[in-house]
Amino acid sequence: MSDMEQFKAEMERRTKEIEQIIEPYLPEETGHQKTVLEAMNYSMKAGGKRLRPMLMQEVCRLFTGDVLDCVIPFMAAVEMIHTSSLVHDDLPCMDDDRLRRGKPSTWAEYGEDIGVLTGDALMMYAFETAARAFETSIDPDEISAIGRAIGILAHKTGAFGMIGGQTVDVELAGSDIPRDKLDFIYRLKTGALLEASMLIGAVLGGAAEEDCKIVERLASHIGMAFQIQDDILDVTGSEEELGKPAGSDARNGKTTYVTLEGLEKAKKDVEQLSAQAIEDLEQLPGNNEFLENLIRMLMDRKK
Ligand code: IPE
Ligand code: IPE
Ligand code: MG
Ligand code: MG
Ligand code: MG
Repeated sequence: MSDMEQFKAEMERRTKEIEQIIEPYLPEETGHQKTVLEAMNYSMKAGGKRLRPMLMQEVCRLFTGDVLDCVIPFMAAVEMIHTSSLVHDDLPCMDDDRLRRGKPSTWAEYGEDIGVLTGDALMMYAFETAARAFETSIDPDEISAIGRAIGILAHKTGAFGMIGGQTVDVELAGSDIPRDKLDFIYRLKTGALLEASMLIGAVLGGAAEEDCKIVERLASHIGMAFQIQDDILDVTGSEEELGKPAGSDARNGKTTYVTLEGLEKAKKDVEQLSAQAIEDLEQLPGNNEFLENLIRMLMDRKK
């Protein structure tokens, strides 16, 4: 097996492992409100790269050499928040996309009303899930880190994070956006949750304050590179490969990194941002070869 093939196999194994970690946290589909619970599980089980819990896990491993028990509920929680953002992002009033993770979008399957409620319910259930981390420890330092991690998750999800970015994104659909504002949108709509994922891995892993700062910066570089690559794939990818519609940005009249800077510069900047992320990683104590390979792999991702 080539190195690349070996890494791909390792990724597949870890993705499955993360899905097994998340599964027990998913709600049971019972009661009069069964529909929303079913739709939550539908969106969560549809697939996806599970990148955010994977990064969280790896950052924790970087600082502790292990995955602490208190990180596990947060891994599930961040994937729930991310999934909720996709459920809402696809709604007719937002990007109006009917396909997600290779299946009909939640609203296309369950209707628009249930689509809105499913996103809401998943976002709240994420915090209920994260709070279960308190059950894993009686160590005062760990308990205080869990409290801080919940605060980070909320901040990076809400108006000062992902939702703030999505606000400017939808508000400015159909208009020209200058580069500085586009950077703001990407930093928030995509970067914020990646920052939360990695920062929480560091905080729960007991990282020093200056290392937490480096982790947050590293994650913001990954976030920017990740969204630029997402824009590239919207132009160059196929629906089949992506599991979501290609050409969604053009259809919605979105200014993207590609419309603003061109495909070639976009590709170059993804490489440069990834290189910066790896430089940041090298400044941190500990060694995590998988994490480094993961960052490199994201540059060339096709989905
Ligand atoms: C898609 O995220 C939305 C963006 C922030 C660009 P992912 O590409 O991580 O989606 P899944 O989780 O793999 O489906
Ligand atoms: C979405 O950006 C970022 C989110 C917070 C969901 P996009 O709208 O480009 O994501 P995709 O391409 O639909 O996955
Ligand atoms: Mg969008
Ligand atoms: Mg979209
Ligand atoms: Mg996109």
